Order: sequence, then structure tokens, then C-alpha cells
Amino acid sequence: MKRIITGIKPTGTPHVGNYLGAIKPALKLAAEEEHQSMYFIADLHALNSIHNRSKLKSLTYEVAAAWLALGLDPERSLFYRQSDIKELPELHWILSSVTGKGLMNRAHAYKAQVEQNNREGRDRDDGVNMGLFNYPILMAADILLFNGSEVPVGKDNRQHLEMAKDIGESFNRLYGSTFDLPTPVFAEGSEIIPGLDGRKMSKSYGNTIPLFTEEKSLHKLVKRIVTDSLPPEAPKDREGSPLFTLFREFATPIETEQMAHAFQKGIGYGEIKEELFLVMNRVIAGPRVKYRHLLENTDEIDKCLKDGGSKVRKEAAEHMDRIRERVGL
Ligand code: TYM
Repeated sequence: MKRIITGIKPTGTPHVGNYLGAIKPALKLAAEEEHQSMYFIADLHALNSIHNRSKLKSLTYEVAAAWLALGLDPERSLFYRQSDIKELPELHWILSSVTGKGLMNRAHAYKAQVEQNNREGRDRDDGVNMGLFNYPILMAADILLFNGSEVPVGKDNRQHLEMAKDIGESFNRLYGSTFDLPTPVFAEGSEIIPGLDGRKMSKSYGNTIPLFTEEKSLHKLVKRIVTDSLPPEAPKDREGSPLFTLFREFATPIETEQMAHAFQKGIGYGEIKEELFLVMNRVIAGPRVKYRHLLENTDEIDKCLKDGGSKVRKEAAEHMDRIRERVGL
């Protein structure tokens, strides 16, 4: 049976990019019967940027509530906190020991920080902790420990998946075939989802549309999405238009076709934004109510994650025993 595995970091309120890049495609795959799915809250990964205990806790609930509100069925899938799987830091260490530093030097998130430091005349590694530097190795452990064969992620994670493959391959070469190598699954036709300012929607850029923000605030945020200043009657380019990209993700195929036609003929940005708000809110309204309910009943969330964690731990321990034996521990 194929196995799907994916995680989300509790580093900010779940946003439209997380939904379209990971949650929606992951839940769609899970609906196909031949898959077994594993979804986790990547709280160990979050530690490299969240250094506040109560913030980490509340963001963990937000991410978990988002999955559940959007339809994750904890009876049919394994849903857990990364930090409940004690084997992961151990595997992370073993994998670190077969991973060249040069590979990590090339990781996008690390490189971006170094480049920013250079531009701003700071020390090369200012603001880089080892959690950030080693991020791709822990991510490889998340996937390889469970032989996760398909990993639904946004395209911003392409490099992480390549690294997980490289790291798994290095281990297999040294110790004999141990890990299945993962395949990334990118949502059909989807690009990196743009944020309010047109750059990648990201918690670290502060340009996100929180998925479950109230209706009024959703309306306001959609109106803030940047556009060029073409007049209403001018034909508009759909390629690379954040408005069109988002519209296509929430609308039906017929609505998308009509919108594509309107872009070609000429339509005002104000009007597009109203349409976009309507299709987004149509999808989000039901789950929003469920999300609020879950956040008021966090014991339900705790129970789900605890049950999921104990199911997963058994398998983790078995795999880890084999890995330890392979390396001679
Ligand atoms: P995180 O929390 O940053 O993102 C969670 C998921 O949301 C996707 N995503 C996007 N997709 C499209 N457009 C965007 N603007 C956008 N922003 C976020 C991400 O690609 C991701 O799929 N590294 C992972 C967390 C992780 C993980 C794993 C994933 C840790 N271990 C193992 C899969 C398997 C991440 O980026 O989290």
C-alpha cells in the first residue's frame, strides 16, 4: 500500500498557501483507498523560529484544528505531533552523520538568510541557528523513518524533497537498501501560491491570508492583493496573476473558464476581487465554524494527537531498531 506523509509547522496561523499547497492535495490523495496517510504537526521544526512556549502550544492547536476542520479523519489516517515520536531526533543524528555539510550549505532557507546578511552587511551566519541549518535532515528523517512514498507538499518544498532522497540514497549506499525513496506530489497545476504582495505566501513574509479569518477580514484581505494599474476595459494576463491563481483554486472549472474569458475581454480588478472573495468564502465558511469549535475544545485535539502518536510510535520503534542494527549501534 502506498503511504502518504506530510507535515505543517506550527509557526503561524494556517494560511491559504498551506491549504492549497499541502492540505487539500493530501486529503484528496487520502480519499483514494489504496493510500495510507500520515499527517503530522512539525513542532520540532518550529522550534528553530518559535521560542515561546505558549505561542508554540496555541499554534500547534491552530494547525491541528485546521486539518480536522478541513476533513482529516483521525480514524482513517495517522495524525500526530512530530515531537511525540522520540525516534525522530535519533534518526536525525544518524542521517546527519551521512550528510555532507556542503549539501546543507545549498539549502534555500539557509542560503536566503546568508544572502540577506551579506546584503545588510552583517556576519554571514547571523540569525542562523543549527535548527535552521539542519532543517532538511530532520525533514528527511520524518519521511524516511516511515518509508513515506508520496509526499504532498507545495512547490517551495521541492528542494527539501530532493535532499531527503539524496540523504536516503547516501544511507542506502553505505549500509545497504534500508529506505524507500520518496516522491513529491505537487497539487495539480498549482504554482507556489502568491501572498498579498505577490511574493510567495509565507508566514515569514507576513503576507498571508489566514485560512479561517472571519468573513469581513477575508473580504478586506482579498481587496488588498496587489495588482498592476491596468484600467477595467484592458485585457489582462492570467499567467502569473495572483488573483487568477487563487480564483482557479477555489472556483469550479466552469467558473474558472468564465473568469479566464473575462480576463481576456477586460474586467476591473475590483470586480475580480469580489468574485474571488465569494468563491473563497464558499469553500471556507463550513470548515471555519468547525475550526472555531475545535479551538474552544482543545481537549478533543489533544486526544486525537495522543491516540495518533501512540499508533505511530510502535512502528517508529520497530523501524528504528532495524536502522540501529544496520549502522552497528
Ligand atoms: P510549512 O509549515 O512551511 O508549510 C506547510 C505546507 O504548506 C506548503 N506551502 C505552500 N504551498 C504553496 N504555496 C505557498 N505559498 C505555500 N506556503 C506553504 C508547503 O510547501 C508545505 O507543504 N517543510 C515543511 C514541513 C515539513 C514536512 C516534513 C513536509 C517538515 N517535515 C515532512 C512534508 C514531509 C514546510 O514547509 O512546512
